[in-house]
Amino acid sequence: MLYVTRREVFSSAHRLHNEELSDEENFEIFGKCNSANGHGHNYVLEVVVAGNIDSKTGYVIDLKQLKNIIKDNIIKKVDHKNLNYDVDFLEGINPTTENVIVAFWKELENKIPNGKLYSLKLYETENNYVEYKGEK
Ligand code: NI
Repeated sequence: MLYVTRREVFSSAHRLHNEELSDEENFEIFGKCNSANGHGHNYVLEVVVAGNIDSKTGYVIDLKQLKNIIKDNIIKKVDHKNLNYDVDFLEGINPTTENVIVAFWKELENKIPNGKLYSLKLYETENNYVEYKGEK
């Protein structure tokens, strides 16, 4: 098994806020990330596809193809957008890195033509990232 990775970057705004909690509880849990008008991040997304080498192409998956799949299904929808309001597949979701990466997985998992989606890593900052390998 081989693991092929494509890295993409995007910039988005968000506000961490759980509608089911009071304003006080939201502030207690999320602190400055709960700030009313949101804030931005330069996110990095790493998409790993696992598979075997196709004897005809020598690839697990054509990285140009993988890049286009990520752009069409994720990047075009989230780049320079507000994750709380602008993204159909994030509607009603509190956009923590954890919740966003699970939503990205659902958007991508059935769209990989060769190999299988193996993992996603989403960096919210240089030092903070979440990895997801699907429900197991
Ligand atoms: Ni944030």
